[in-house]
Amino acid sequence: MADKILVTGGAGYIGSHAVLALLEAGFEVVVLDNLCNSSAESLVRVAGICGRAPVFIEGDIHDARLLDGLFAAHEITAVLHFAGLKAVGESVRKPLEYYENNVVGSVRLCQAMSRAGVFRLVFSSSATVYGEPAEMPLSEDSPTGSPTNPYGRSKLMVEEVLRDLAASDPRWSIAVLRYFNPVGAHHSGQIGEDPRGIPNNLLPYIGQVAIGKLKELAVFGGDYPTQDGTGVRDYIHVVDLADGHLKALQAIACQAGWRAWNLGAGQGYSVLDMIQAFEQASGCVIPYRIIARRPGDIPACWADPARAERELGWKAQRGLADMMADTWRWQSMNPQGYAR
Ligand code: NAD
Ligand code: UFG
Repeated sequence: MADKILVTGGAGYIGSHAVLALLEAGFEVVVLDNLCNSSAESLVRVAGICGRAPVFIEGDIHDARLLDGLFAAHEITAVLHFAGLKAVGESVRKPLEYYENNVVGSVRLCQAMSRAGVFRLVFSSSATVYGEPAEMPLSEDSPTGSPTNPYGRSKLMVEEVLRDLAASDPRWSIAVLRYFNPVGAHHSGQIGEDPRGIPNNLLPYIGQVAIGKLKELAVFGGDYPTQDGTGVRDYIHVVDLADGHLKALQAIACQAGWRAWNLGAGQGYSVLDMIQAFEQASGCVIPYRIIARRPGDIPACWADPARAERELGWKAQRGLADMMADTWRWQSMNPQGYAR
């Protein structure tokens, strides 16, 4: 019988791509999502693409009774834990919501896993745990501990909770995946990123400028010590990211303990590079204006992804042109996101 995987936050942007990858690889999938930042339509689309549907349970990771029932009803072998809040600016205004949802929620999930005897976990962490980097590229051994906002601190706290948990009991096997900047969409154009309100992140913002929903892009800072003065990031295609989760699942099936892996492409692109590449892929002109730096932003950040290649057999396959073409296909086919 195929392994059954619980995916928390599986209706969201990255989670829905991981659910698709799992189903395509033959896994059974149970999704738990409270839909606070997503739509169940994403899972309907996933089923449309691959001809198989996950079990969907609308609910919250804090709900101990619901989790106990879920683990009793389904023989889960491992958990991919995407559920969480992710807006950096909002986390500064509402820190308690972020610590409650991301930290307490993760603790509740681990408690329920422990009660159910499920000890394999893949956690969605972030390059933000490295804070303002002193060295580049960032390897998993680069220092953590100085994230610039409550969101980043919540991710680091969960990493530390999980490290303690793995040290306390050899049955735990935990993969911490530090994502760099996820972008793009499935090549079908059926699933993608559907932010609520005005997007915080670069690519969704550019996409909405391209379809005329937003007037122009504000480029945050033109005076960074980078090749063209704008911020540099390591953009990683969401389908590559989803594949990384399958590789991590394989790894934790064979080894116990806690281990972190960077999931990035290993290459930095500036904001102006991204605008130009999007224009090429879409044929649209993206009006932009360079304004002041956004508080809390770092100048540059890219991964050394060698450990993931060596230990997981994972490497980003999709380049900038694919990221842009797939973002544009999703954006132009779904101008209202999942609301149609
Ligand atoms: P997303 O908001 O699209 O997905 C998160 C999902 O979790 C949503 O469907 C939301 O409804 C659900 N959720 C939130 N709190 C929940 C709760 N208490 N109980 C049940 N469901 C809950 O975000 P995403 O971009 O897909 O990110 C997935 C994970 O990856 C998050 O943990 C995020 O912090 C992390 N991450 C994202 C990025 C990025 O740039 N997108 C970068 C690094 C790390
Ligand atoms: N940017 C703009 N204008 C915008 C939005 C972004 O110029 O309207 C710039 C930023 O200043 C930065 C780059 O585009 O230089 C990327 O910004 P994003 O907001 O897309 O991404 P961040 O690198 O700030 O943060 C993202 C996620 C975080 C995660 C981090 C590291 O939002 O959750 O990557 O993984 F922690």
